[in-house]
Amino acid sequence: MSRRLSLVEAMGLGPLWQRREVEYVYIDSPAIETAPVLQAEVQAASAPAATIAPTAPPPSTTPPTVLPLDAVALNDTKNLQGLSLSELKAKVARCQDCRLSNTRNQTVFGSGNPQARWLFIGEAPGENEDLQGEAFVGAAGMLLNNILQAAGLDRERDVYITNILKCRPPINRNPQVDEVAACQVYLAAQIALLKPELIVTLGRFASQTLLQSKASIGQLRGQVHHYQGIPLIASLHPAYLLRNPQEKAAVWRDLLLAKKTLQTSNQS
Ligand code: URA
Repeated sequence: MSRRLSLVEAMGLGPLWQRREVEYVYIDSPAIETAPVLQAEVQAASAPAATIAPTAPPPSTTPPTVLPLDAVALNDTKNLQGLSLSELKAKVARCQDCRLSNTRNQTVFGSGNPQARWLFIGEAPGENEDLQGEAFVGAAGMLLNNILQAAGLDRERDVYITNILKCRPPINRNPQVDEVAACQVYLAAQIALLKPELIVTLGRFASQTLLQSKASIGQLRGQVHHYQGIPLIASLHPAYLLRNPQEKAAVWRDLLLAKKTLQTSNQS
């Protein structure tokens, strides 16, 4: 057994996701031990054009808990205009605009290929990320690596990965509204610089924040939304998948939709 496989199994992350020769179809892959996926589901996911529906959040009677990302970006209070990605990263590293700056070891800006077509956005750094300064390097990160690999995506070459928050909330508690408000102008500027062709939000928090929605992740999944004109697919968080491995099939369907969306936008 390879060192990586042993490590993955030792961390309880196995079995490793493996990409099959026929892209997208994994229904009978012995390497993937997940809830059986119905053939019909796979066919439905890979056959005629995926539904590209405009975002239609359910009516909400309560005000959103977050500020509109684009409006904040327009009302740039942090003088981010004209910064390069590395200048933005340096500015984030000095940020003291919320209480998380008192408890972080370091900021976690994001990493990968700035020219990548795919942008993955998670919630916030955890303990490992805070120590290493890189997003998704802990157990959830290892699972994300497996998912990317299974989808034929190389983490360094094909994607860029970041979070809504650039600092770790203490004991990994949920981000608070004012922390999101303080950080979101950085994310808006980061996305504007990266210009991804597709965004995948990982989990309820990132999905709701980017989409300015209070809809559940179940409601947000399975359709193509847009953030600033960029197609956005809401998916599940790898940490959730660690606890609910039977949901891997659902994430796979999200990635199929994401790939189809990229293909469609290439053709138009
Ligand atoms: N969870 C996240 O949302 N982001 C990370 O970087 C790590 C864990």
